[in-house]
Amino acid sequence: MKVLISDSISATALSVLRSSRIDFTYKPEISSENLVREIAEYDALIVRSRTKVTREVILPATKLRIIGRAGVGLDNIDLKATAERKVKVVNTPYALTNAVAEFTIGLMIALARQIPKAVSSMRSGKWEKSSITGSELKGKTYGTIGIGRIGARVSELAHAFGMKIMANDVIPIPKDLIDRLGISVASRDQILSEADFVDIHVPLTPETENMIGYREFSLMKKSAFIINTSRGKVINESDLLKALSEKKVAGAALDVFEVEPPNRLELLKSEKVIPTPHIAGQTEEAQNEAGRMVAEQVVEYLKSA
Ligand SMILES: NC(=O)c1ccc[n+]([C@@H]2O[C@H](COP(=O)([O-])OP(=O)(O)OC[C@H]3O[C@@H](n4cnc5c(N)ncnc54)[C@H](O)[C@@H]3O)[C@@H](O)[C@H]2O)c1
Repeated sequence: MKVLISDSISATALSVLRSSRIDFTYKPEISSENLVREIAEYDALIVRSRTKVTREVILPATKLRIIGRAGVGLDNIDLKATAERKVKVVNTPYALTNAVAEFTIGLMIALARQIPKAVSSMRSGKWEKSSITGSELKGKTYGTIGIGRIGARVSELAHAFGMKIMANDVIPIPKDLIDRLGISVASRDQILSEADFVDIHVPLTPETENMIGYREFSLMKKSAFIINTSRGKVINESDLLKALSEKKVAGAALDVFEVEPPNRLELLKSEKVIPTPHIAGQTEEAQNEAGRMVAEQVVEYLKSA
């Protein structure tokens, strides 16, 4: 049995495979052409997000039985093609939750306190002590669109900061969570119009693609911030730029982009935007856990089948 690892992965994952005596090849920079050429040799494939497991990759993969994705979203895998070929797909939905949630809180504070502006001002030799005045999270309204694993963890942290919590989801929100955090269950439009921080934690689906566009930004308070660590295509970037330039919203923090790496320089250079390179889940703890969990699932499946 042979496993191909086609993205960089934690050492923990490699040691799980080694100690299970599973033969593996580690090619974290393999090109898509070479992946298509070589995949026929392998029983399992382990990826993060760089590798795009398209139909072209699945078609020649005649031995492939399982794909492990160290992370949450499965939008880099053609799930229709894997289902047709009866290739099992596993991920590590819980491993990154806390990392993304803490990062989201970090972005909220960075937006509210203008931390990036303060840093670049100091670096240019200035001391703008009186002009950089921020606002606090305490007492503000946090609204999350999507309250699954990450949305719920951010809500817990936001609650600890003394924020009021509003949440919207397409599935019922657990009653104990609502009670524990005093959550106001709301429609998407209510969140957009009432929250001081609009936060997005949904998967990318045909329904969530372009979910936040000009109409939605126009509903937001002029003083409100929007944070997106979910998937870039959930927000319409050109509408965000328009909304920012028309002062319909105060600012945005984006860890994910319509195209990655992003190509909209205007967005990246805007003083009102905090851009980060899809690192919300990138902590040592989360990556070790994701690597360990994905490797264990792949080993278990290969050994049991
Ligand atoms: N930036 C990063 O590094 C990073 C890391 C991990 C995950 N993510 C992204 O975060 C997303 C959320 O992760 P999670 O673990 O919380 O997933 P989850 O499945 O636990 O939660 C997603 C929630 O969104 C809800 N939802 C789906 N469609 C909706 C809609 N139209 N309106 C409102 N709610 C809707 C679902 O019902 C669910 O409760 C992932 O899909 C992934 O794309 C990003």
